[in-house]
Amino acid sequence: MTGSRSALVVLTGAGVSADSGVATFRGGGGLWEGHHVEDVATPLAWARDPKLVWRFYQLRRRALGNVEPNAAHRALAELERELSLGGIPFTLVTQNVDDLHERAGSSPLHMHGELVQLRCERCGAIVRELEHLAPDAFLPCASCGHARVRPDIVWFGEMPYFMDRIERALCTCTHFVSIGTSGVVYPAAGFLSLARQAGARTYVNSLEAPDNLEPRDTFRAGRAIDVVPALSAELLGELLGES
Ligand code: OAD
Repeated sequence: MTGSRSALVVLTGAGVSADSGVATFRGGGGLWEGHHVEDVATPLAWARDPKLVWRFYQLRRRALGNVEPNAAHRALAELERELSLGGIPFTLVTQNVDDLHERAGSSPLHMHGELVQLRCERCGAIVRELEHLAPDAFLPCASCGHARVRPDIVWFGEMPYFMDRIERALCTCTHFVSIGTSGVVYPAAGFLSLARQAGARTYVNSLEAPDNLEPRDTFRAGRAIDVVPALSAELLGELLGES
């Protein structure tokens, strides 16, 4: 351990999983996998048409079996391991609900929840499972017996997870990287600005400049699989060099 003051926060969005074959949110003409987001990703949608919402997320859960982590996920996992050996704090925050970071070996904070997790809408008990994937059969809660668990996804209008931990990490980071996110959904879209306020060096990778980009950010345009491995190596050198 080096007792450094360097610290890295990485935020990922749908773009990091795009090359694994997971659809992004804003690439389909305003539709997400053929649905308007308000028809499937709000508490109101669940109250109004739970069958539609359940089916939508069950198909997303099932699709996890058809995708694999890509070079960007793997590079971030390697970076996490190397920084951990060097005693440098590293926080990976993802807006993604897939499990590709974990499968690559990372330990992300899933601020928008996870497809592999279900939550009882009555007692709040959480279960991690990917066995019950039937699109039309609700799953009862194993803890309280309630007829229906819901996806453990943070829907629009709900509070994202881990916000205290994330904000603490942002306030003390010296380096911040945003990968594959359009910078329009808050609070995640505000992390870049919080990191700048903390004095961090800021890096952004995306296909096109996101809404929240500023001239002082280092912008690397391109696919995450092409950009992130080299960027991770560069950051590792910088962070270890400064520690
Ligand atoms: P978006 O679909 O809004 O944006 C995807 C971003 O990734 C865009 O900036 C693209 O340029 C970029 N991109 C696409 N392919 C890429 C690639 N191969 N390599 C690098 N970048 C690429 O997705 P998010 O910003 O993640 O929230 O969306 C944020 C939130 O909005 C989601 O977490 C979700 C959604 O509504 C909830 O469900 C609560």
